[in-house]
Amino acid sequence: MGFTTNPSFASMTALLFGFCVALLFPELVASRTRQYTFHIEYHNVTRLCHTRSILSVNRQFPGPRLIAREGDRVLVNVVNHISNNVSLHWHGVRQLTSGWSDGPAYITQCPIQTNQSYTYNFTITGQRGTLLWHAHISWLRATIYGPIVILPRRNESYPFEKPYKEIPIILGEWFNVDPEAVISQALQTGAGPNVSDAYTINGLPGPLYNCSSEDTFRLKVKPGKTYLLRLINAALNDELFFSIANHTLTVVEADAVYVKPFDTDIILITPGQTTNVLLKTKPNFPNATYLMTARPYFTGRGTFDNSTTAGFLQYNQPSHPQYPLKNLPLFKPTLPAINATNFVANFTNKFKSLASSKYPANVPQKVDKKFLFTVGLGTTPCPSNTTCQGPTNTTKFAASVNNVSFSLPSTALLQAYYFKQSNGVYTTDFPTNPTRPFNYTGTPPNNSTLVSNGTKTLVLNFNTSVEVVLQGTSILGAESHSLHLHGFNFFVVGQGFGNYDPIKDPAKFNLVDPVERNTFGVPAGGWVAFRFLADNPGVWFMHCHLDVHTSWGLKMAWIVLDGTGPNQKLQQPPFDLPQC
Ligand code: C2O
Repeated sequence: MGFTTNPSFASMTALLFGFCVALLFPELVASRTRQYTFHIEYHNVTRLCHTRSILSVNRQFPGPRLIAREGDRVLVNVVNHISNNVSLHWHGVRQLTSGWSDGPAYITQCPIQTNQSYTYNFTITGQRGTLLWHAHISWLRATIYGPIVILPRRNESYPFEKPYKEIPIILGEWFNVDPEAVISQALQTGAGPNVSDAYTINGLPGPLYNCSSEDTFRLKVKPGKTYLLRLINAALNDELFFSIANHTLTVVEADAVYVKPFDTDIILITPGQTTNVLLKTKPNFPNATYLMTARPYFTGRGTFDNSTTAGFLQYNQPSHPQYPLKNLPLFKPTLPAINATNFVANFTNKFKSLASSKYPANVPQKVDKKFLFTVGLGTTPCPSNTTCQGPTNTTKFAASVNNVSFSLPSTALLQAYYFKQSNGVYTTDFPTNPTRPFNYTGTPPNNSTLVSNGTKTLVLNFNTSVEVVLQGTSILGAESHSLHLHGFNFFVVGQGFGNYDPIKDPAKFNLVDPVERNTFGVPAGGWVAFRFLADNPGVWFMHCHLDVHTSWGLKMAWIVLDGTGPNQKLQQPPFDLPQC
């Protein structure tokens, strides 16, 4: 048998050659496969003098960075070593036709059970910037979260000044007790859950809390440089203001889409959002140290964690070790008032798509389907012969979309859909408009708080152009909601206060360069309109990213049918897809 005539030998050689090239000269390879193993493990962590066995990935808190370039394939083998069921979500990753890897438990997959594993397999397409990954079951994301860094393709540059360094800054929320106990108690009593004990910057609460000065994030910088800060809000329940004293930030990207750069001293970032900012350090060593701080924006009636996390921006002067930090004056940033709704509206209106020829804003200009969804709080009845601690002692807190409080099924929607076993799992009659219209942002009518329950979905044909108006309600208090859509980016074409006016408001829509995101705050006592093209077949979760509202039912799911083209079909389920 001659070498040259053996096809399998020839292809083996080619494969081996390709492998060696990829190994020796990675820059010659257009896109790569990035492999990760995430062990879900217990990990003892001490914060605020409380030691807790937290749930972690690879015993890191926050979890490991997932780094890829645009175009790369990512494989994450998740091994569950804890007693809870778990699933991970790659928040904001489009998951084109790969819905099996999206991650929300009981929506796209059954959770991974103890001692089981599952490999998430997806390709990063048309996205660059920062996203986050997090657990997507109950409140496990309280400690199971980390950054996703998407670099531009090799030989592509940023549409802004090349940063000297890039630093993820991930904001979180720390509980001295097990967050699972907090939410399960709240769901049982019907009361609002206990609030967190601290906010954190990269897992560290910082010096403004008792017993915490050692646990302070320090951003050590050199003068005269440009740093790219990859800001992420991984907090469970709080929209956060963020600022660095005496430094202006330039916003350049949001939710892994470039935006028109703008300067600001203060950032507002809602849970699930990511924002890349450039920080230009002072030209010379300043005789000062600067704090960066984050604390909540809150408009609701309930209690909330009204504390402030802080870290240091410190200029390092290695040549002058006699320059002790503690003798320098310390500057603190000024953040807006807790309920600074007008600041938030002005700030969010500054975000515009870059909309360049290279990075166009493909805003759907015509709309096939329009939906009006109310989002807000409500109640469910307390079980008979018990006393609850909801708004009254006969009710529990709930939340809904179009008055439907979504119940999670006991098997995954995507599996039920794919195997045509929807019977008894979900229905397709989610209301396209409020069933009983009322003055949403005025005084709510009597007996308007009671929500209905169901696992209702909405079905869209492939490539339907969709417009959704999310109308906040004032039932039990007007609150803002950080609405997140899985599987798509949407364009925020308009927002306003009061009730949406279907005659007047569309005239003011921005269809040229609206911001493109996956998560957006519905203004407290207002509305937001967004558009997206349903070009991704599968089952896609949409919910409030304030976990307390998600737990109360502020969630729903879209089903996008397959298209007829070759890349318009949901892939087959992977062999290791977890079973319920
Ligand atoms: Cu980041 Cu469904 O969530």
